[in-house]
Amino acid sequence: MKLSVNRAHLIAGLAYAALGMGLGIYMAAAQNHVQHVTHAHLLLAGFLLSVIYAIIHRLWLPDRDGWLPWLQLALHHAGVVLMVTGLFLLYNGRFSHGQLEPILAGSSILVLLALLMMLAMVIKAGRIPAAEQFQPQSHGTGGAESV
Ligand code: HEM
Ligand code: HEM
Repeated sequence: MKLSVNRAHLIAGLAYAALGMGLGIYMAAAQNHVQHVTHAHLLLAGFLLSVIYAIIHRLWLPDRDGWLPWLQLALHHAGVVLMVTGLFLLYNGRFSHGQLEPILAGSSILVLLALLMMLAMVIKAGRIPAAEQFQPQSHGTGGAESV
């Protein structure tokens, strides 16, 4: 199985969802919501944003994965993992905000940078003629279903 950028975003996004829901169930069961910000970012910045990136790849970006989509993927997921880890440690109370500042600030910048790269890729893709963006798929109907 060849891993494409959109599948990598999708698989990572669904893995964040499993972790985030697991944390949500733990918070509800323990009646301790102290990690609600970690839960929120795991699900929103992790799950939702990654799945949205996968959908953007499928719907609006060319089928070929160059180095830019892989770099965007690496920055986004490094950012999410560092951000969620930093938030978890912060709300755990073991480390101070000052100690975690480099992780939290750095991870925020990575997530934002990845978003700006996605914006740039979408704008760039709009300039490619539609016929060049998508390879026709042959499913026995002459490729008429390619979008
Ligand atoms: C198994 C499923 C889930 C469980 C058991 C769960 C549980 C919880 C709990 C206990 C809280 C803390 C509420 C509070 O203290 O105010 C919370 C907050 C939150 N959850 Fe979930 N959750 C689940 C799924 C989701 C999903 C799928 C999303 C988004 C895609 C989500 C987004 C949020 C957000 C944004 C908050 C923060 C709300 C706030 O306090 O401002 N949750 N969740
Ligand atoms: C650059 C990345 C981001 C940074 C630096 C950031 C920072 C923050 C901060 C400082 C808070 C307040 C936490 C608190 O109340 O103690 C917050 C809350 C929140 N953020 Fe983010 N955030 C980022 C990305 C996102 C994204 C991408 C989403 C959604 C798609 C999101 C959704 C939320 C939500 C729903 C809350 C309320 C959570 C709650 O009260 O439990 N954030 N964020």
